[in-house]
Amino acid sequence: METLEIQNLIQHAETAREHSYSPYSGYMVGAALLTDTGQIVTGCNIENAAYGPSNCAERTAFFKAVSDGVLHFRAIAIVGGKRNGKRDYAHPCGVCRQVMAEFCNPETFWIIVAKNQEEYKVYTLKELLPESFGSDNLS
Ligand code: THU
Repeated sequence: METLEIQNLIQHAETAREHSYSPYSGYMVGAALLTDTGQIVTGCNIENAAYGPSNCAERTAFFKAVSDGVLHFRAIAIVGGKRNGKRDYAHPCGVCRQVMAEFCNPETFWIIVAKNQEEYKVYTLKELLPESFGSDNLS
């Protein structure tokens, strides 16, 4: 991916993070998912008083896209950090990695974990979730 494309995706994740509903952890996350057709679908984390029903920003973005019939993706940018604190590198949790594995090619799907538009790390899904369980196991 080109730098400008990465930075644009990070910018969308930063904007999505502003909608984070995280009154319990105070940890705000935004994600921006790039589809095969160049569309960007955003998500934020959405917490719940019962804790368990909380949803990560990444899965919010994936579920929004899939529920609109979009199934092919190129990359996701993620930004996170405490409400008034410094930005962290918010690597996706195990559950979100597994959701990515359901829909994305492990060798060509890019995961961009960013502090800002200048400081970011880029991984393939395979690097973050090697030897994953998938639909092949069930065929
Ligand atoms: N969270 C995400 O949204 N994405 C991640 O990659 C890590 C964690 C959320 C879940 C919860 O609302 C808060 O961050 C603290 O765990």
